[in-house]
Amino acid sequence: MGVRLMRDISLHLLDILQNSISAKATEITVHIGAIPSQDLLYLKVTDNGVGMEKELLRRVVDPFVTTRKTRPIGLGLPLLKEAAKRSGGDLVITSSKGRGTKVKATFGLTHIDRPPLGNIADTVVVVVTAHPDLELEVSFSNQTASQKLKLAEIRKHLGNVPLNEAEVLNWIKDYLKQSQKAIFGGVLDEVNC
Ligand SMILES: Nc1ncnc2c1ncn2[C@@H]1O[C@H](COP(=O)(O)OP(=O)(O)OP(=O)(O)O)[C@@H](O)[C@H]1O
Ligand SMILES: [Mg+2]
Repeated sequence: MGVRLMRDISLHLLDILQNSISAKATEITVHIGAIPSQDLLYLKVTDNGVGMEKELLRRVVDPFVTTRKTRPIGLGLPLLKEAAKRSGGDLVITSSKGRGTKVKATFGLTHIDRPPLGNIADTVVVVVTAHPDLELEVSFSNQTASQKLKLAEIRKHLGNVPLNEAEVLNWIKDYLKQSQKAIFGGVLDEVNC
């Protein structure tokens, strides 16, 4: 199939988060890590949603280019798998019915076809705007440092103020923007990391 939609990793993340939310997840953990010594960039999303049956999981991770007769169920995960593979990485999903799902995409950090990280802050803000009660945790790491944003922590300080209040969203956006820059700015040679 000649589908070549170039997407930033932040847009793939939005897809994965939407999948988790559709699967009724209330707790989602996002981790983006760079390991320069292994030339690796990874995106890991863990949720406590409804999970997938073995059969569905098998079909979901099937590369959508292999057989004509099995059509992909959706496009989100196959596109991510394509993007990961194109840069020398892969997509691995583990899921347990009733417990949750873990999606891990790996990319060749310096591979010419690795998608840029894009704007992770915007993706998170879009999700928090629509789902202010979600227990979301986002962390970035490289080999020497890491930074984490835990919405539960912010909630503690806010009392009754909902997370999707404009000022709070702006704070989240700024925090994640500067975190992304601090953690990946020196590792990923990109304007937008
Ligand atoms: N985190 C998850 N928990 C439970 N099921 C999931 C999860 N992620 C994906 N799935 C299942 O895998 C299917 C395929 O996901 P995928 O993102 O590829 O397509 P989609 O979400 O159905 O459609 P699209 O992303 O194209 O709008 C989903 O329809 C859903 O049944
Ligand atoms: Mg989807």
